[in-house]
Amino acid sequence: MALSRTQRRVARIVLDVGLLIGFALEFITREGPDYDLHSWIGVVLIPIVAVHLATNWSWVKATMRRRGDHPEWSLARFNAVFGLVTAICIVTGFPIWLDWSDSGAWSTVHTVTGFASLIMMVSHLWRNRSRIRTMVGRRRSVAVA
Ligand code: HEM
Repeated sequence: MALSRTQRRVARIVLDVGLLIGFALEFITREGPDYDLHSWIGVVLIPIVAVHLATNWSWVKATMRRRGDHPEWSLARFNAVFGLVTAICIVTGFPIWLDWSDSGAWSTVHTVTGFASLIMMVSHLWRNRSRIRTMVGRRRSVAVA
C-alpha cells in the first residue's frame, strides 16, 4: 500500500525525532551503569540511521554528482564526515561491549568518536534548520488553510 505525501512526511518526522532521541539517550547512558542498555540503543540506531540516509538519498546523489557546483556541497561534506565518525563510534562499541578484545584503544576511539558525533549532531541540526522548519511547518499551514 503506497503512503500519501502527508503520511510519508509524518513518517520522516517520527523517524528523525527517533534518531534525535536515540542520540540523546546515548549521551544520557554513556557512563552506564547499564552498558547493555547503552549498547542496545546503539544497535537500534543502526536501521534508523540507514532509513534516514535512504530517505535523503536523492539529495546525497545530487550533491555528489555536482560536487563544488552544488550550493550545499559544504553541508554534504560535513554530513559525510558526521556519518563516518558515527559509524566508527557504533562499530567500536561492539568489541568493548562483547569483550572481543582487551585493548584499551577501542574504548579511546569509541569515546572520542562518541563525543564528536554527539557534537556533530547538534551542528547537523543547526545547519539543516531551514529544512527542518519546512518539514515541520508545512503541516501547520495545511491545517490553517
Ligand atoms: C551513536 C551511537 C553512540 C554514541 C554517541 C556513544 C557514545 C559513547 C560515549 C561518549 C561513551 C564514553 C563514556 C565516558 O567514558 O564518558 C561511550 C561508552 C561506551 N559505549 Fe557507546 N556510544 C554509541 C554507541 C554504542 C554502541 C553501538 C555500543 C555497543 C555495541 C556502545 C557501547 C559502549 C560501551 C561498552 C561503553 C563503555 C566504554 C568504556 O568502558 O570505556 N556504544 N559511548
